[in-house]
Amino acid sequence: MTLPVVIIAAVARNGAIGLADGLPWRLPGDLAHFKAETMGKPVVMGRRTFASLGRPLPGRSLVVVSRDRALALPAGTVAAASLDEALERAEAIAVASGAREVMVAGGAEIYRAAMARADVLRLTEVDLAPQADALFPPIDPAIWRETSRVPGTRGPRDEAGFTFVEHARAPERARASDPA
Ligand SMILES: NC(=O)c1ccc[n+]([C@@H]2O[C@H](COP(=O)([O-])OP(=O)(O)OC[C@H]3O[C@@H](n4cnc5c(N)ncnc54)[C@H](OP(=O)(O)O)[C@@H]3O)[C@@H](O)[C@H]2O)c1
Repeated sequence: MTLPVVIIAAVARNGAIGLADGLPWRLPGDLAHFKAETMGKPVVMGRRTFASLGRPLPGRSLVVVSRDRALALPAGTVAAASLDEALERAEAIAVASGAREVMVAGGAEIYRAAMARADVLRLTEVDLAPQADALFPPIDPAIWRETSRVPGTRGPRDEAGFTFVEHARAPERARASDPA
């Protein structure tokens, strides 16, 4: 991989990211942020997260990770049998389309696997601690450095406040795909 791999996620104070195959909050302001951050870029996601969306995302090429090699997907969406294959496919799409980042959009199983492969964590810290069955993995302070923190603008339909926080991999902690 030569392009940056960016994990994008909304994470509550207790690490919650999902409940019953959906999001445990209603935050249109963060959905708008997700759309802006992913537009025009390839987006890698797990089969369960794709199923929860139920449709392709306009303006973005989705690479769906599944062990099911017979998985049927809509046009414009590609399948990958492993995270490695998904990142390779996503990078090829990015190079062909001029995108500068490969985005990884969850869910919990994919985030856990992608932490070692990511360069950037582009997180929305959600000011809630809801019940959840899907959690974001721990962020190791020996590996990740906070590089920006910007308060989000809470709209009338947002259930809670939120903050956009970015972490970058410490330069001495090369990602897993890089040669030693
Ligand atoms: N808050 C957020 O930002 C955010 C973002 C995304 C998702 N979510 C939430 O997260 C939850 C879903 O997370 P999840 O962990 O249940 O599911 P997931 O990570 O979306 O998808 C898991 C599926 O991906 C495939 N997979 C995972 N690792 C693989 C590997 N190494 N090789 C091949 N295939 C692999 C498998 O598909 P098969 O079973 O088909 O083999 C597996 O069942 C939902 O509640 C969703 O709403 C939250």
